[in-house]
Amino acid sequence: MTAHRIIDRLHIDQTAELEKLKRGLLASPASIEPKYFYDELGCTLYAAICQLDEYYPTRTERAIFQQHRVEIAEAIGSGGTFVDLGAGDCCKALGWLPFIEPERYVAIDIAGPSLEIALANMSPEFPDTEMIGLVTDFSRHLEIPDECLDGRVTLFYPGSSIGNFAPPDALRFLREMHGYCRGGGLLIGVDAKKDKARLDAAYADALGVTAAFNLNALRHVNRVIGSNFIESHWKHVGAYDPVLGRIDMYLESIMLQTVRIDGNGRSFAMGERIHSESSYKYDRAEFMAMLLEAGFKSPRVWTDEQASFWVFYAQT
Ligand code: AVI
Repeated sequence: MTAHRIIDRLHIDQTAELEKLKRGLLASPASIEPKYFYDELGCTLYAAICQLDEYYPTRTERAIFQQHRVEIAEAIGSGGTFVDLGAGDCCKALGWLPFIEPERYVAIDIAGPSLEIALANMSPEFPDTEMIGLVTDFSRHLEIPDECLDGRVTLFYPGSSIGNFAPPDALRFLREMHGYCRGGGLLIGVDAKKDKARLDAAYADALGVTAAFNLNALRHVNRVIGSNFIESHWKHVGAYDPVLGRIDMYLESIMLQTVRIDGNGRSFAMGERIHSESSYKYDRAEFMAMLLEAGFKSPRVWTDEQASFWVFYAQT
């Protein structure tokens, strides 16, 4: 069995999405949803962020996976369905498939073309695993069709992407995931609270890659709604708030300026900010409590020497 199949469940109401974007920009304070980071250039810039010395999460999670692979795989057990949320190029799951040997691998992502390429490359390597690509946007609601799930289900949500949900939404999403982990569990990567200097550096790196990633959202927005943001009139702000336990990223206006949005002139004062992303960090106990509240049982955790990142596996 070397074939794979793609199930397309992407129902995007473009008009509603564009209206939402314009409303966010016209509001005070203004905001842009983080999904506008990820056009083609934005995806490349994010991949570059993951290689920065300052941005430790990707590298640390990978090292935890490598160091504890066998033990984690034993906790998960073999066979069943392995569901990869936000799979992208599927490279993180690739490390797990030989250890878990699932009967079925379901890669979920909003970007159909990257799933298609990744699954076409992977399927000959795993002839005993049925491969399905599910194209959908799970940022507001997780819906996995029944036809994708067979036997015990393991959900895999790496990269500390859970941190980009506000805690009530993160809990809602954990509950949704719990509903799908039939007899299996959830393997999830979560970034830890730590000293402000290290977190600030991770989100405002010396090379300015995160700044370019943030500013590029303005270019993307210009393309989709015909606005006329000028990137050089804005600066990147990314800083950790230890009280709220989160990074906030903003685009800050460096002058008084007027931007055309939806046929209107939206004026921005010097220093006025557009919120573009929050990234929540969790203590071990805080995230354990969230897993339990979402209905998971017996969470186990693996970490690095500095306890800068958590990998949890929790059962249903
Ligand atoms: C995708 N997500 C987990 C990243 C984070 O760390 O919150 C996005 C990011 N934003 C700036 N740098 C990385």
